[in-house]
Amino acid sequence: MPNRQTDWPEEFDLDGQPATPEPDFELEIIEPEAAPEPDQAELYLPESNPEQPEASPQLPLSEEMQPPRYAVALQDGREVVFQHAASLLESLEAQGVDVHYQCRDGYCGSCRVQLQQGSVHYHKEPLAFIDEDEILPCCCIPKSALKIKL
Ligand code: FES
Repeated sequence: MPNRQTDWPEEFDLDGQPATPEPDFELEIIEPEAAPEPDQAELYLPESNPEQPEASPQLPLSEEMQPPRYAVALQDGREVVFQHAASLLESLEAQGVDVHYQCRDGYCGSCRVQLQQGSVHYHKEPLAFIDEDEILPCCCIPKSALKIKL
C-alpha cells in the first residue's frame, strides 16, 4: 500500500493545493493588431450636410467668390440645390434624396440617372457604360441647373 504522504508534491500553496511550478520561460503579451479601417465605399454615412457647411473661422467668401448654386429638379417634383458638395450624389443624399449606388467612383454604373435637362462635369472620366442621356451622380457636378429622373 502506497504511503499517501510520500506521494504528495513537496510544495503546497496556502489552500493546501499543490503549488504550480514556476515556468522556466517568460510569457510575452502580444496585443492584437488594430482592426483595418472599414471600406469607405461599404459604410458610407455622411457625417455632415455639405450643402449646409458650418461657419468657418476664416473670412467669409464674398458673393462673387461663392461656388455657383444650381437647382436640381427631380422628375417627381422635388427640388434640391447643389452648391458645396463634392459630387451630385453627395448633394442629393445630404438633402434626403435616395440614390442607389455601389462604388461611388464611376466604374459600376449603379448610380446612373437620366439627365433630362442641363449639363454636368466629371471629375475624372467614368468607366461605367451609360447611355447618351444618362449621368453618374457619384462622380459629377452640375454645370447648370439640372432636371433628372431617378
Ligand atoms: S456608384 Fe458606381 S458608378 Fe456611381
